[in-house]
Amino acid sequence: MSISIYKYDVVIVGAGLAGCAAAREAAHAGLSACVLTKLHPLRSHSGAAQGGINAALSEEDSIELHEFDTVKGSDYLGDQDCIRLMCQKAPETIRWAEKMGAVFSRKEDGSIAQRPFGGQSSPRACYAKDRTGLTLLQTIYEQAHRDGVDFKDEYYVADIIYKDGKVTGVVAFNLVDSQPMIFNARAVMFATGGYGRAFKINSNAHANTGDALSIVARKGLPLEDMEFVQFHPTGIAGSGVLISEAARGEGGKLLNSKGERFMEKYAPNKLELASRDVVSRAITQEILEGRGCGENKDHVLIDLTHLGADLINTKLPELRDLAITFLGQDMIKEPISIAATAHYSMGGIPVNINGHVRKNSQELVEGFYAAGECSCVSVHGANRLGANSVLEALFFGRHVGDNIVKDLKEGIEFIDATEEDANATLEEMERLRSLNGTQRVPDIRNDLQQSMTDNAGVFRTEESLIKQREIIKELRKRFEDIRIDDKSKVYNTDLQEAIELGHMLDFSAFIVESAIDRKESRGAHFRDDYPTRDDENYLKHTMAYMDDKHNISIDHMDVVLGYHELAERTY
Ligand code: FUM
Repeated sequence: MSISIYKYDVVIVGAGLAGCAAAREAAHAGLSACVLTKLHPLRSHSGAAQGGINAALSEEDSIELHEFDTVKGSDYLGDQDCIRLMCQKAPETIRWAEKMGAVFSRKEDGSIAQRPFGGQSSPRACYAKDRTGLTLLQTIYEQAHRDGVDFKDEYYVADIIYKDGKVTGVVAFNLVDSQPMIFNARAVMFATGGYGRAFKINSNAHANTGDALSIVARKGLPLEDMEFVQFHPTGIAGSGVLISEAARGEGGKLLNSKGERFMEKYAPNKLELASRDVVSRAITQEILEGRGCGENKDHVLIDLTHLGADLINTKLPELRDLAITFLGQDMIKEPISIAATAHYSMGGIPVNINGHVRKNSQELVEGFYAAGECSCVSVHGANRLGANSVLEALFFGRHVGDNIVKDLKEGIEFIDATEEDANATLEEMERLRSLNGTQRVPDIRNDLQQSMTDNAGVFRTEESLIKQREIIKELRKRFEDIRIDDKSKVYNTDLQEAIELGHMLDFSAFIVESAIDRKESRGAHFRDDYPTRDDENYLKHTMAYMDDKHNISIDHMDVVLGYHELAERTY
């Protein structure tokens, strides 16, 4: 089969906020830029971000406070140079988005409205009702189009071309007809989102299968801090669909089956607006101790009735609709049912402050960049503050795009790809397509997600994690025995889901092995058997590497400190 080879200056994989912002910057500077996405860009998961984007804009707030809250929120694992850069650039990022055409909700005096979010010293989340991500995504996508970015919708990227320490392109398939293609470039950037779908109850889009992470890991490159998975406190009970932190920001109260406002016990000062890891653990603890609500005692309630219909309809209309659709509960009239939901991946592809992918703790991979949730820069450390992810995606997307422009000007040579560069990928696709075994992909995926939730979720122990290591080994054996019913080439979602499951098995193993290695509790990683933070031994990033037999080895990398003293984290 002959393979078309397309040439660009920059190829970006993923069309969420980070991908679109980087592409816009590259194209605006006159480079040829292509964005590949397995969806339509406006269905990217950035569009699901509801509550807001942080920037210190008001007189009561400051960049220093934003920086401090973020460092503290990260449980001191965030790299303080990257955090400083992001917080300093946040106000300018908002102005840039406005100039691009984004419309934020306003106060009476016409200034941008800001709402309180967890772990923040001041109301800091700028918002567009409860549709902030979608508003920004539509805007930046339009502007990227205007600057001539070549968007390739419904293309599945199966591999990178990585030779001699350089990335020179990607191998992709057109999902319409399975036609393979090579996208050859001077710079490749990944902006593919997170890996929350490793867990049964999650707020992530169906597409968030973490493909990019295992594509990178299969080349022997590291993944950083994979043990840190954020559980958002307020997922709709049963489905995990997000009820934005805006609900607590506007004054929502969490209640257990006894009608107690239980956050008074866990975070007496900040209550519902403690940081997410603290609130998620409190909710899960209430449920585990039998104070959950409903027939199965498996959720708690968030009460918003005191806010009144006007506020809810003006500021939280999407949330109200979601609760009515998924629960049949109208938040104007009654408390709604929620529980913690896997929401955000703090770990990912390690990058330096300019988004350049790391080969190890010392060296970089030439021509390879990443930004947004698939990357670990690391501004969130062990726990992300709400409304810092949209900021990270937009700021670092743009910043990495600008750095690619600069690096290309300073000279990264174009290395021609050949058809042979796609051979291994094509062979693997055909091997999978031909499988006629006994196991079903959805069954294995379901067993993976359920067991990850049970053994590597909000609370973890050595025993539960070792159990999960063995379960993943068993699931890998079953994966070798799958059956692909659809042998066709047109929109073969059967095959696509099998490839995605392979990725999910890989990155789940990284979560588990990294969590076994970290014998302490920090941020979102809570070990019942090591319940306290241990700065002496674990104030360091995890760098995990996989060999071709799926064995994972762990190394570490220093955390960038220097601006904020270590302190106990209380709310
Ligand atoms: O709760 C939310 O609206 C989510 C925001 C975020 O994850 O930053």
